[in-house]
Amino acid sequence: MYAITGITGKVGGALARELLAAGQPVRAVVRDATRAQAWAERGCEITTAFMEDASSLAAAFEGATGVFILPPSEFDPEPGFPEARTVIDAVSAALLKARPDKVVCLSTIGAQADEVNLLTQRTLMEQALREMPMPVTFLRPGWFMENAAWDVACASDDGVIASYLQPLDKPVPMVATADVGRVAAELLQQTWRGVRVVELEGPRRVSPNDLAAVFAGVLRRQVRAEVVERQTWEALFRTQGMKHPLPRMRMLDGFNEGWIDFENSSDGILRGHVELETVLGELVSRRT
Ligand SMILES: NC(=O)c1ccc[n+]([C@@H]2O[C@H](COP(=O)([O-])OP(=O)(O)OC[C@H]3O[C@@H](n4cnc5c(N)ncnc54)[C@H](OP(=O)(O)O)[C@@H]3O)[C@@H](O)[C@H]2O)c1
Repeated sequence: MYAITGITGKVGGALARELLAAGQPVRAVVRDATRAQAWAERGCEITTAFMEDASSLAAAFEGATGVFILPPSEFDPEPGFPEARTVIDAVSAALLKARPDKVVCLSTIGAQADEVNLLTQRTLMEQALREMPMPVTFLRPGWFMENAAWDVACASDDGVIASYLQPLDKPVPMVATADVGRVAAELLQQTWRGVRVVELEGPRRVSPNDLAAVFAGVLRRQVRAEVVERQTWEALFRTQGMKHPLPRMRMLDGFNEGWIDFENSSDGILRGHVELETVLGELVSRRT
């Protein structure tokens, strides 16, 4: 039985659908049982746990062949990343107690970077889970294509996408969450020893200008990408309600300056199949 956290989200949901399609038993680990109905109807066992709570997580992982860890996103962390550290401590304690046969943990491109930034939260998770006694895989995907959900309204209504990724012609490794879930399902069903890192991107790299061009095709209107100047970011993020914009700004710097990247050379990186056109088509049709 595979215990899947984050199952009500994009990656966890895609992963669970793949496992169920392969005839594997799935335990849906949810924080709100009222959101688990669809998974119960598909035949999943349902258990409730919070990623910050070691004892509920240990119960959720008990007897599992494999566990999938999806660390919750925290875009506005307090200094020192206390929110991520709470999750890391709870997950580590739960894995040590439940002792599943193997673990796949969702990490990120750039988790190996030395510079402190938003993704340091995953660096810390990797450091902690490297000490676990069971085999652990860190799946490090590129930038999610679904992040373009933020751009759908402006692209449709105004024909502009505002880009923090720059310069506008710089290709960025992106991947669809469907590919991340599919690869996570494959990894969970494998047998390996020790710690391994698997890096994943989509069929081709995507610049902000490419993103605008694909939006234009999907929306059948002109769409262009526009740079959001670096010196305006902090004030902008604060008006959006952020209290600690620096980690997010440093993450964007990391992509733009190139110190957030894959660790392997290109022949060591897995490639997904799902095209940007497919993802943007779904995002646009969901809005209409
Ligand atoms: N966006 C990117 O470009 C990118 C790139 C690489 C890696 N990642 C990683 O991808 C992950 C996000 O994946 P996603 O897009 O599939 O997320 P998502 O769609 O936002 O779903 C998040 C899932 O986590 C659950 N969750 C959140 N907080 C929780 C908590 N405290 N306790 C228990 N469950 C909790 C949510 O449950 P509810 O349904 O109850 O809310 C939901 O199932 C993050 O770890 C992020 O670092 C993102």
